[in-house]
Amino acid sequence: MKHLFIAGNWKSNKTRSEAEAWVAKYTIQPENITVVICVPFTLLGVLASKKLRFLLGAQDVSPFPDGAQTGEVSARQIKEFADWVIIGHSERRKNFSETDEILAKKVEQAKNAGLKIIYCVPDDSTGILSGVDVVAYEPVWAIGTGKTDTPWNANSVITNIKAKSQVPTVIYGGSVTAANVASFVSQPAIDGVLSGGVSLDPEKFSALLMNAYG
Ligand code: PGA
Repeated sequence: MKHLFIAGNWKSNKTRSEAEAWVAKYTIQPENITVVICVPFTLLGVLASKKLRFLLGAQDVSPFPDGAQTGEVSARQIKEFADWVIIGHSERRKNFSETDEILAKKVEQAKNAGLKIIYCVPDDSTGILSGVDVVAYEPVWAIGTGKTDTPWNANSVITNIKAKSQVPTVIYGGSVTAANVASFVSQPAIDGVLSGGVSLDPEKFSALLMNAYG
């Protein structure tokens, strides 16, 4: 049985009480799966003070170190609460004009602070910076649309990403559900998934984890 890496991305969702309710309803601890939940900055401190059955991640990081950067959250500040960070999500690339140059600075800051990185790419031709821990292949058209890539195409793209980047853990993201997760992770090159919408519901996310091995 291969070890799986399954991450949830809450995006701009959940208040403190909603996050606490999620944690109270999430009662499973699946064997052989590393589970990382990436929450808004406002919830990092709230959740880090609890005993959690998952690892905590942020969804973004400042490209700058601590200092005079109004509105930014530095890697060192995140590391106080979380071990993981998502960098390069397509929503950041598109809606916040994040370029490869900015992403390189974010990766550098995260690495310096000792954060582990989930680096998102929309295809196998997008550059991958060295030093990232996990790559997530997320075709833009599959995010939040209910449409997924086919498992065999995702496997082939991920095979190319692994050959090019030498990153050993590469996962698929885009409309993954409890019903389709096994079709992806049963592919030889796919090491797990990144879930957005489904991760917002503790029952649906637990079902996704339980179904991962088919
Ligand atoms: P989705 O989002 O599961 O809602 O498609 C995936 C993502 O954006 O990481």
